[in-house]
Amino acid sequence: MKKRVLTGVTTTGIPHLGNYVGAIRPAIAAAANPDAESFLFLADYHGIIKCHDPEVIHASTQAVAATWLACGLDPERTTFYRQSDIPEVPELNWILTCITAKGLMNRAHAYKAAVQANLDAGQTDQDHGVEMGLYSYPILMSADILMFNAHEVPVGRDQIQHVEMTRDIAQRFNHRFKELFVLPEAKVDDNVELLVGLDGRKMSKSYGNTIPLFESEKKLQKAVNKIITNLKEPGEPKSPDESPLFDIYKAFATPAETAEFTQMLADGLAWGEAKKLLGAKLNAELAPKRERFHELTARPAQIEDILQAGAAKARKQARELLDQVRDAVGIRALR
Ligand code: ADP
Ligand code: TRP
Repeated sequence: MKKRVLTGVTTTGIPHLGNYVGAIRPAIAAAANPDAESFLFLADYHGIIKCHDPEVIHASTQAVAATWLACGLDPERTTFYRQSDIPEVPELNWILTCITAKGLMNRAHAYKAAVQANLDAGQTDQDHGVEMGLYSYPILMSADILMFNAHEVPVGRDQIQHVEMTRDIAQRFNHRFKELFVLPEAKVDDNVELLVGLDGRKMSKSYGNTIPLFESEKKLQKAVNKIITNLKEPGEPKSPDESPLFDIYKAFATPAETAEFTQMLADGLAWGEAKKLLGAKLNAELAPKRERFHELTARPAQIEDILQAGAAKARKQARELLDQVRDAVGIRALR
């Protein structure tokens, strides 16, 4: 059996450097392996958890789809689809919900962060503003992964916990009903840290602190110029942990180039110069993809056709497994 690789990107905004190095680039590289079968998708049911603006969800769906394609996803080789086009996923989500421990969800970091924000704000109700979508979001992600029995899930470091929860849920199902699910593993690129955004928090579509992937070269450099640095003067030695700029550089460079960049900083490279080098590095990798992105964005109907073909392929596989899952829990025809 071929190794199955699967990952998704939430449709809540315009893809950024973190999405690219954390998930999109490694997933496309893994999909090119002839021994792998790949499932890459737009997580729009995840999108509506955090974003309640229909126009943003819609525009983001198009941007995320065009980004996958512009970055080299080949829809002939990869099953490329939109989560909401696969009704088997929410069906599996419910079955998994029925066997997931509430305590497991209490430990999910998105939920814990919301509780912490309430406590910090002096709220007496720690669940203030927390909706069930956010609370049970790791179950939906488990359904995404288990629906196609993925072995490997390329993700950024923030998602490792969710893949571990998926293993937990799969194990519980396998033990209680029938060995139907593969236990997936998160695949994290060793060279890639969780990139920090322009405000010092994790770079995220939800925080408005990103460096978007496909801005013009000029705007890209402008965003790079906003990366936080300290007040050290040109000529003063600098170390990699003094600015998020370094991890971004590292994610786009070879180890030898990173070593050279580290040395230049130690030798007193000015932050302004470091930003120019980073801008040029990013542009070299992104410029050809940016052009394809704009071509694709101009043809949404073509993207839709690709997604529909992907959904048909995905649903066929999903149905087969879901039928077995339903049977295993006792949901079957009366004859
Ligand atoms: P966002 O937080 O921007 O909405 P998503 O939740 O859609 O991002 O994440 C899609 C993929 O991108 C996930 O695999 C996630 O781990 C990865 N990712 C998101 N932000 C970063 C980041 N700042 N650095 C590295 N990877 C990231
Ligand atoms: N929850 C992921 C994120 O916010 C996106 C996602 C949804 C995903 N379903 C997935 C990633 C399944 C990998 C596998 O980043």
